Amino acid sequence: MSTGSFDLSLIDLTLPLEQGLTKLFTRRGEEIGINAKVATVFPSNKGADFQCNGALASAKALKSSPRDIAQKWIDQFSEEERSLFSKLEIAGPGFINISVSNELLATRSSLALKDERLLCSLSTQPKKVYIDFGGYNVAKQLHIGHLRSTVIGETLRRIYKFLGENIIGDAHLGDWGTQMGMLIEAVKEEQPNLPYFDDLFSGDYPTESPITLEDMNRLYPQASARSKEDPNVRAKASEATAKLQAGHAGYTALWRHFVNLSIQEVKRDIAPFDVHFDLWWGESDAQAEIGPMVEALIEQGFAEKSDGALIVPLQNDKGDDMVPLMLRKSDGGATYHTSDLATISMRMQESADEMLYVVDARQEMHFKQVFQAAKKVGIVKPETHLEHVKFGTINGEDGRPFKTRSGGTVKLREVVNMALEAASTRLNEGEMQSQTLKEADEATRASIAEMVAVAAIKFGDLSNHRTSDYILRLEDFCSFEGKTGPYLLYAAVRIKSILAKASDKGLQAGDIKLRGDADRALALELSKFPSVLMQVRAKNTPHLLCEYLFNVSQSFSSFYQACNIVREEDPAQQGAWLSLVSLCLSTLELGLDLLGIKVPDRM
Ligand code: ARG
Repeated sequence: MSTGSFDLSLIDLTLPLEQGLTKLFTRRGEEIGINAKVATVFPSNKGADFQCNGALASAKALKSSPRDIAQKWIDQFSEEERSLFSKLEIAGPGFINISVSNELLATRSSLALKDERLLCSLSTQPKKVYIDFGGYNVAKQLHIGHLRSTVIGETLRRIYKFLGENIIGDAHLGDWGTQMGMLIEAVKEEQPNLPYFDDLFSGDYPTESPITLEDMNRLYPQASARSKEDPNVRAKASEATAKLQAGHAGYTALWRHFVNLSIQEVKRDIAPFDVHFDLWWGESDAQAEIGPMVEALIEQGFAEKSDGALIVPLQNDKGDDMVPLMLRKSDGGATYHTSDLATISMRMQESADEMLYVVDARQEMHFKQVFQAAKKVGIVKPETHLEHVKFGTINGEDGRPFKTRSGGTVKLREVVNMALEAASTRLNEGEMQSQTLKEADEATRASIAEMVAVAAIKFGDLSNHRTSDYILRLEDFCSFEGKTGPYLLYAAVRIKSILAKASDKGLQAGDIKLRGDADRALALELSKFPSVLMQVRAKNTPHLLCEYLFNVSQSFSSFYQACNIVREEDPAQQGAWLSLVSLCLSTLELGLDLLGIKVPDRM
């Protein structure tokens, strides 16, 4: 590859640009006594690509004015090193403004285009990270409340995995609560003669489920409503739950059918979202761990009796008392706390380094207590990272949690259907429709509508800071303009067709070189991709990737307006731009894939 006047040994281009520059600035800074800690170079949007404020931070230590220090620092760079920059200037009280040369940007872009990871490095010390997301409950149908956990959890799973972490996605089913007892009682009422309810039965229980999925979806809501009204029903459900938890053979066999039916349905409901779980374990899988764990906590003096219950008193990091963790209820039953604590203990036995819980913000207190207890009793190591990756609520136009017209809970499947409808309407709107789409058959159109709908839901969700609430406006989410999933799909599809047309015309891609402001701005934007992923990983904030991909498509639009590839007379520049366009497409496609969004071939 020709790199013009550019020498690749001057800067490490496998690192994000600001990191390569930081290394260089650190080396030259140390030569004049500047502490490496203050030599950080970071992106800037004030008249330069990057900025370094280390001279200001060194004034005291070096007993000199920041501007003088900055000047000395700049003077340390060799003539060759200066070729890396198009700007290296002291500004204001002693900031250093840095812009990189077109050659450097172009070389970096060419390298990225040849690398399928787009120069995103792999973690050198992979961490074993459990991502606990989904959190679906057996017997209860998936509803809108499961959307964010599913979508945010999956994108974090994809990003961590891409960055080389050892990821385990765990659906952590709610399969052990009183809803199980309610359903057992409901089945017993309809079919009292089943062997599961016969305490004298000693044969093998049937392998075939006595109820269908439809039965379950009919019986559970009924049972749940009745148990809210009638204390007797509630008491019976609790009793059945306690028996199940104590290992009643018939109930256990029946319960397995419930779990299997639910998993089937969950898989069907989340299919449009293309989600992957490594583990389909549930709260029940932690039960074997609970007994020995509680024994150990009593023995070690961490657990205390309180009103017949067993608790672990807790203090926050400042030493103030918190609400204690409930280890065992006064009726002897296990709790949500205990099951999470035991699950942490099991994950530690598998050498977990990190555990992320992608769960509604309303469970904040629960996780604070569980994490604090895990640290206090030494179930985790001091360096184990436990984090509640909390998220806000999906609201309706009235600013309250999104409900059906009649005030009921909206099923997840209904959200998908509403989005499908909105997406199909948009796709059929005449002027947006490309010729190829008009000619497509029914099946192709349906599959494109599904990709658009899923992109709309996912991007609409992920583009909000996860801790914020947002209003579900599917029609807006499906718009082809503005910061939406379909807009990004449209941008990617358009770039694909630009490249296809260029190739039809016989145009050849070549080494990237940059000529003006617009192609340079696009190359600079594309160079930020690896850093953006690292920021998402550091704070578990996928909205940064959404924001970034939107900026990339904006930069592309400006570039495409300013640089007419087909009419360009210099074939080398033409080829260079085609390569830049390819890099742009790869970046969009990889970024969207990490958000779990598939790009259609046409739309
Ligand atoms: N099933 C729970 C619920 O519906 C969410 C589970 C979250 N994960 C966990 N480890 N607690 O509220």
